[in-house]
Amino acid sequence: MKPGTIVFKGQTKKGREIVVRYPLGSDVSALRNYINILSREKTFIRFQGEQVSLADEKKYLASYLKKIKKNEAVKLMVFHQNRLVAVADINLEDKISGHVGVFGITVAKDFRREGVGKLLMKLVLKEAKQIKKLKIITLGVFANNSIALRMYQKRFGLKEYGRLPQGIKHRGKFIDHIFLYKRV
Ligand SMILES: CC(C)(COP(=O)(O)OP(=O)(O)OC[C@H]1O[C@@H](n2cnc3c(N)ncnc32)[C@H](O)[C@@H]1OP(=O)(O)O)[C@@H](O)C(=O)NCCC(=O)NCCS
Repeated sequence: MKPGTIVFKGQTKKGREIVVRYPLGSDVSALRNYINILSREKTFIRFQGEQVSLADEKKYLASYLKKIKKNEAVKLMVFHQNRLVAVADINLEDKISGHVGVFGITVAKDFRREGVGKLLMKLVLKEAKQIKKLKIITLGVFANNSIALRMYQKRFGLKEYGRLPQGIKHRGKFIDHIFLYKRV
């Protein structure tokens, strides 16, 4: 997989133009800005207000780009008029779990509910076919994230394989962490 490759051009359900592509090294500021906004939102992700530095984002992106080139990861970014509005990825684990890929997805608040999440997940799963070692996709979901849970289970056939009771502290409350998987 080549950095910067475009995999989709089209429109959201609301008719907004989008381009979906693999990242480039030059996307570091856009990615950092994007994750920091999501973190401040305190949505259903690991970051709950913490801000990522440019140096940390650079390291993170460089290691992802390396894995993408080796066909050990997929990361797709959705742009609307040059603004980054969604990101999803699958990152292969290593050693005994070298056949297991961890999935993640986020859509910017003002771009949710217009089909971007579903489209992006479909595209990432399609691209992940190039990861030859990949056999199982896993992910963890906040039990209170009913929209994501429904999308993963009903639309993409992921199944629950475990749950850590009160494994997440979200906005001051303890929430179960639900683990899903799918064989590919
Ligand atoms: C979960 C998320 C990725 C979904 O992306 P999205 O672009 O909003 O989703 P889509 O518009 O493609 O809709 C996906 C499905 O969810 C439903 N949906 C989306 N938002 C909804 C809402 N607010 N209420 C009810 N249903 C909703 C859609 O109707 C669709 O269902 P369908 O297949 O029956 O039509 C997005 O909400 C998000 O980024 N949330 C914050 C971060 C997050 O939760 N990430 C996942 C962590 S595991």
